[in-house]
Amino acid sequence: MIDAIIARPAARTHAALHAVPRHLFIPPVGIADASGGGEVVIDRDADPDTWWDAVYRNVPIVTQLDDGTTDLRSGTSGLYSSSNSAPGTVTDFLDLLDPCPGHRVLEIGTGTGWTAALLSHLVGAHNVTSIEVDAALAEQAAKNLGEAGVHPHLITGDGAGGSPERAPFDRVHVTCGIHAVPYAWVEQTRPGGVIVLPYDPGFVAGHALRLTARPDGTASGTFDGGAEYMMMRSQRIIANAEDGTSRETRTRIDPRTITQASPGAALAISAITGLHISSHQETSRLLTWVTDPADPACWSLVIYVPDAGDYEVHQVGDRPLWEEVVDAYFRWLDWGEPGRYRFGMTVTPDGQRVWLDTPDHTLG
Ligand SMILES: C[S@@+](CC[C@H](N)C(=O)[O-])C[C@H]1O[C@@H](n2cnc3c(N)ncnc32)[C@H](O)[C@@H]1O
Repeated sequence: MIDAIIARPAARTHAALHAVPRHLFIPPVGIADASGGGEVVIDRDADPDTWWDAVYRNVPIVTQLDDGTTDLRSGTSGLYSSSNSAPGTVTDFLDLLDPCPGHRVLEIGTGTGWTAALLSHLVGAHNVTSIEVDAALAEQAAKNLGEAGVHPHLITGDGAGGSPERAPFDRVHVTCGIHAVPYAWVEQTRPGGVIVLPYDPGFVAGHALRLTARPDGTASGTFDGGAEYMMMRSQRIIANAEDGTSRETRTRIDPRTITQASPGAALAISAITGLHISSHQETSRLLTWVTDPADPACWSLVIYVPDAGDYEVHQVGDRPLWEEVVDAYFRWLDWGEPGRYRFGMTVTPDGQRVWLDTPDHTLG
């Protein structure tokens, strides 16, 4: 059944999927996309058919709300803080990671333990280290893995520091969203080793990133497809906008040009400006917020209404954030509209830089 729901994974990943059934890692109650649209609470005891249907569809299953402070049965609102990712997403990332038998692998974000079990099948459980920040989830993952008969090395704690005592690693597989890559992961990866992670700079889309560690202590690589994951706890993006006196201007740029920009444009704009963007649809208007993560006193709000010649912009603070975003968009257009695959990132002890085509053409 699992074959039918995902695009062809590489042969080794495919074998792992068959060896490690997903249902062993799904809790009795979760939240999943309903087949007819929307999201529903799935309950194995109350409605086994819906539960089994969700487990063997290509959908993520949310396994924790609000860091465990809200009961999953209470509904679909609240912050989704852990999930068992969609099988297609898991296999795409495993293919990108390309773990080989004998590789030492570090996973960040054990969650339900399913990925750790798949990795164990691929490289041997004694080679897998998996870190989960949430103690209750870590305990449940250990149980799930034990019942599946798989015993990787599990750590409860903040994965941002990696696991120096288990390093070096040949592969680092991050399964929570990241906007600032912790250098510890680079330090703990053998030169030639690979780090894959969902890069989410808080601007329109998330992007799968594959970095290769270099002998000079840096890591560099390119973006490869989309990736929407829940953020690492310490890197959650909160659109923080303080009250302030706004200047009202108008823009002729339809804000949807930016909010629906292609992944390449979104990557370029976020790297050039360092800004975040979020949108909220009301009945007859679309509100788009541009915020500066470094300065909550600086933000812009752009209001789209249908059939308008231009649109209201409210700017607060010294930086005209909306104009910066628009300028960055047109720079990207002037470069010939490069797609996501032409962008890359280099991580050094001093931080990270996004570049276009070659590491010397940095943005921002
Ligand atoms: C999408 S889930 C991972 C799914 C998991 N790989 C699986 O197979 O079920 C993301 C996980 O990352 C965890 N997480 C968030 N911040 C973390 C951190 N700083 N260190 C380790 N884990 C973290 C969350 O608690 C959550 O369980």
